[in-house]
Amino acid sequence: MTRSSRPVASPRVVSIADFRALAQRRVPRAVFDYLDGGAEGEITLRENCRVYEDVTFRPRHAVAVADCNLCTRVLGFDLALPFMLAPVGYSRLMHPVGEVGAARAAGNAGTAYILSTISGHKLEDVKAASTGPVFYQLYLMGGRAAAEAAIERARLAGFSALVVILSRPGWLASFLLDGGLPALPNVVVPGKGPVPLVDVAAALAESTVTWSDLGWIRELWRGPIVVKGVLTGDDARRAIDEGAAAISVSNHGGRQLDCVPASLRVLPEVVKAVNGQTEILMDGGIRRGTDIIKALCLGARAVLCGRAYAYGLAAAGEAGVNRAIEILRTDLDRTLRLLGCASVAELDRSYVNVPRSWD
Ligand SMILES: Cc1cc2nc3c(=O)[nH]c(=O)nc-3n(C[C@H](O)[C@H](O)[C@H](O)COP(=O)(O)O)c2cc1C
Repeated sequence: MTRSSRPVASPRVVSIADFRALAQRRVPRAVFDYLDGGAEGEITLRENCRVYEDVTFRPRHAVAVADCNLCTRVLGFDLALPFMLAPVGYSRLMHPVGEVGAARAAGNAGTAYILSTISGHKLEDVKAASTGPVFYQLYLMGGRAAAEAAIERARLAGFSALVVILSRPGWLASFLLDGGLPALPNVVVPGKGPVPLVDVAAALAESTVTWSDLGWIRELWRGPIVVKGVLTGDDARRAIDEGAAAISVSNHGGRQLDCVPASLRVLPEVVKAVNGQTEILMDGGIRRGTDIIKALCLGARAVLCGRAYAYGLAAAGEAGVNRAIEILRTDLDRTLRLLGCASVAELDRSYVNVPRSWD
């Protein structure tokens, strides 16, 4: 048995909640808290999950659904599932296979993986591990020179898209400064090598991505760019004006600014503002297939799962990620059947009741 194939210990793991409990038992408390926790009072973190209860289904009965089609298309890539794996900084901390194992699991499931700048594995190794599309989530850590070098490496390695975040990743600062971590192999300042831990605070201070940085990044990267972290219609429109190929409605899992609304809650506003001009992705609080279906009904093309697969990674390495994906896939299939809908492409607002105040 290899380290990457540690078995999922128990057949009782039938939900993401089970994986969360298993992860809590298997990794040190500091690692679990890093994975599980959110900013300040964790109000947004809790609300991200709770908000799905506000949306209820309108199933179509007596509809025979023989085969459910879970396929979607994101940035021109055909995906077998309507969810992708979100960037999760330093996944290698959760299990040695880390980003490599997660990317391979995504590829094997026919979906995309998004690699964080804060990666414990080289981006080339992560790309090589996956048979599916891999996107690179870029922070300007180390300044523009380091970012430019990372963009070039991502291009050469065959990454399919860049994901940028238009705010500062302050939530990682305390974790990274906590000690015990090696250098970041993908943040290479030309002539100086990878950014070592002691320099991370300084690197973070320079990592803010502004709208003008986005213009600069667009000059360097000819492929599609996804703007992650949009929470208002205004920012969505601005992202389109700045050339984003897709936007991702996200509060980064409630880990940055606390007390912002749940992602699902602002999805209708963003969908209205975008008016079909660009693809809309969404993440935050997804733990079950029904959560994914609700986001798709409200207008997301696909969603990103963060903790849902990271709990699996922490609990059982790559086998855990495979299982987490399978749990969500089975959930999706069952939910579509019970809704009387044959394909995720057919999902729309007619399948859900949404509180009046949301529009
Ligand atoms: C441990 C952890 C680390 C994260 N690191 C990053 C990161 O480096 N870059 C990023 O864009 N988002 C990061 N995120 C946010 C995720 O990409 C995603 O937006 C979030 O996890 C979605 O919420 P969910 O965990 O409830 O699914 C991180 C999330 C977690 C849980």
